[in-house]
Amino acid sequence: MDKFVIHKSALKGSVKISGSKNAALPIMAATLLTDEECVIRNVPELMDIRTMIKILEVLGKEIKFQKNTLIVRTKRKTSLKREGYVAPYKLVRTMRASFCCLGPLLAKRKKAKVAFPGGCVIGVRPVDLHLKGLRELGAQVVVQKGYCVACAKALRGRHIYLGGAFGSSVLATANIVMAAALAQGLTLIEHAACEPEIESLVLFLRKMGAQVKGEGTPLIKVQGVKALGGAEFEIIPDRVEAGTFVAASLATNSPMLIEGVNPLHLTSVIEAARSIGGECDLKDSAIFVNPGGTKRAINLTTLPYPGFPTDLQAQFMVCLCLAKGISLITEKIYPDRFMHVAEINRMGASIRRNGPYVIIEGRDKLYGAEVMASDLRASAALVIAALAAEGKTEVLRVYHIDRGYDKIEEKLEMLGAKIRREKQ
Ligand code: UD1
Repeated sequence: MDKFVIHKSALKGSVKISGSKNAALPIMAATLLTDEECVIRNVPELMDIRTMIKILEVLGKEIKFQKNTLIVRTKRKTSLKREGYVAPYKLVRTMRASFCCLGPLLAKRKKAKVAFPGGCVIGVRPVDLHLKGLRELGAQVVVQKGYCVACAKALRGRHIYLGGAFGSSVLATANIVMAAALAQGLTLIEHAACEPEIESLVLFLRKMGAQVKGEGTPLIKVQGVKALGGAEFEIIPDRVEAGTFVAASLATNSPMLIEGVNPLHLTSVIEAARSIGGECDLKDSAIFVNPGGTKRAINLTTLPYPGFPTDLQAQFMVCLCLAKGISLITEKIYPDRFMHVAEINRMGASIRRNGPYVIIEGRDKLYGAEVMASDLRASAALVIAALAAEGKTEVLRVYHIDRGYDKIEEKLEMLGAKIRREKQ
């Protein structure tokens, strides 16, 4: 296992953002909807992408991944042979996003057996909306020995309400849109997720020949077609990675040019950065962040897109630990996503949690310590805290960060960060 050894650093210069992991994963799953070749560009080099490659290979795809381009072909007509529809637990348990193979497998191969994802450190993560949507399309879905087994001779379009207790679901929307693309007739998905990753999945499906409208809105209309073909596509920039660098700039008081982004995907994040006191100068595909002087305390609430993303809550918490005054963070997507609180407190922060709320009393400084990364975004927050803290910090268990941040230490080193990867 690796750890990062990090010293307080002033950052400077520019950073280039990679392709979006959360956009790439469902698009990779969508290649199961066709036997023709798909070419996907700007795919980030990450553990989660490698895991999805392994799953697709188990499901009969042949994949080349070179220089951020994925070429996906079908090895053989696997149709209903066991290996053709089973996504095994040993792979699915490392990455919940693999559950979005369920919809395309079912639609194309009429049968799907995907390991039921377990809990994870950010809280209970149910999949009831995925199952409800597929059942409404006419699939028989049962949970057997830890697997979700779904079958349907033919899926039929329906009017589906996909809202849940915490609002819309990104991957449930992805699963249902993909299944509906090959269903008979018209499917209306109400309370669909509006995230840019869903918009880009729909653009990819359209290139494959799917008839989908309404992406980016809560009502998506899918007119099923008989078959889909291959397609070429470019993955959108990672808005979470970009937001992480915005937080790093603010927390370390370092002006930074963040390049290769779509600022329109980051409106709530830019708004939060400005409220904290940073200046954000927006270009077509770049953001220049000038952190300004003293940071201000703010109230921040995570919400489905276009609200402030839960995937940036931990990173912005670090900024607020260094702001003047008392901030309040309300986590509306994952009320238990606060494993990082205790770790940041070990660095001298004053954060108190009560249910889905945390109250942060800003401090002048954080101090280096040994801290433990608990999940992907929490790891990024600890790295930011370490760069801002006095002295030396050791961030243990950084394998989490490798799941979702492409060349993170290389990018930080280019900005002048004192960061070293060592064996733990
Ligand atoms: C995706 C992102 C993840 C992000 C999350 C929320 C990917 C690969 N992952 O995860 O990084 O943090 O969106 O923006 O894109 N829920 C239910 N029932 C369900 C499904 C979800 O109640 O069947 C709840 C969840 O517990 C959560 C909320 O809905 O409270 C939103 O979760 P969801 O959008 O489904 O997250 P993911 O798509 O898994």
